[in-house]
Amino acid sequence: MIFEQIATGGCQSYLVGCADTCVAALIDPELSQIDHYLALAARDGLRIHYVIDTHTHADHFSATRQLARQLGVPVVMHRASPAPFVDMRVGDGEMIAVGKLRLQVLHTPGHTADSMCLLVEDRLFTGDTLLFGATGRTDLPTGDPNALFDSLFDRVLKLDPGIGIFPAHDYKGRQASTIGQELATNPRLQKRERAAFVATMNSLNLSMPTHVTEALRTNMSGGKAVAQLLAEAAAAVPFMSLAELKARVDSADADLIVLDVRERDAYEDGHIPGARLLPRGQLELRVNEELPDPTRRILACCELGQVSTLAAFTLRQMGFPYTVALDGGMKAWREAGYPVKPGRDA
Ligand SMILES: [Fe+2]
Repeated sequence: MIFEQIATGGCQSYLVGCADTCVAALIDPELSQIDHYLALAARDGLRIHYVIDTHTHADHFSATRQLARQLGVPVVMHRASPAPFVDMRVGDGEMIAVGKLRLQVLHTPGHTADSMCLLVEDRLFTGDTLLFGATGRTDLPTGDPNALFDSLFDRVLKLDPGIGIFPAHDYKGRQASTIGQELATNPRLQKRERAAFVATMNSLNLSMPTHVTEALRTNMSGGKAVAQLLAEAAAAVPFMSLAELKARVDSADADLIVLDVRERDAYEDGHIPGARLLPRGQLELRVNEELPDPTRRILACCELGQVSTLAAFTLRQMGFPYTVALDGGMKAWREAGYPVKPGRDA
């Protein structure tokens, strides 16, 4: 078995490959690491045939949908997953064939209703069902401490104690553990009475993960995260540096239209000398009257450099092929001590 573990903060992803056939599966990939996974697979001589989520994640942005489209391979999740883009739904007792490897599906609801563990040889990918020294929480949507008790004590913990566990999270920097070690030392597993376990789970009082709303929305629907929209726009537009723009403003470059896409009050508080105002919210509707010549070079700027990137991307899509975005925003422009002009300019 070829095996790679990729950490993103506390989130763990796993690349599992068959050495004989060069076929691989990628488990719990995270959106910001797509190039990392593909580079690792290429380095190891593997082709990814399946992208798998062990459950609906609430704490990070899943890369399964995007990778599946990019690679032309199926998204695999448990049949209880609410995500409409799942191509291959699997159930308890089934296997995913990864070359000569067999990933056995154990449905282990509790952390979420669609949680599953995957057993391959002597390794168990536990998702958030069993963590190093902990279990997944049960207070997020579809969580159920009674179901987690059954999944742990009737299923996972009855497997061979020598099996290594590979959870979807490791916040403590632990490297390895086995089912036997967890049974002996995991504090959450020491209360083996259902009522005591459920009471413990119900009293954890954990804070909500960051981005929980956006992560659940995008992971359940296949919709895009804000960071993904920004990354796609940034990948498709050129940028101009603050210093380059300053030089062009100083030399009164007549070729360049500086387009300030903030709201009017921000613009009137202080804008780049010569900049025109066209708020992002009115961009599409006013573009014909404001920018009649699509062959002009246009530079979009905003306060922080994100909205201007989206605006530049939109303008390029609308047929302004020489649009660029400012690398930075008005905040950085002011901090650099570059000139600003208050009031109305154009
Ligand atoms: Fe989770």
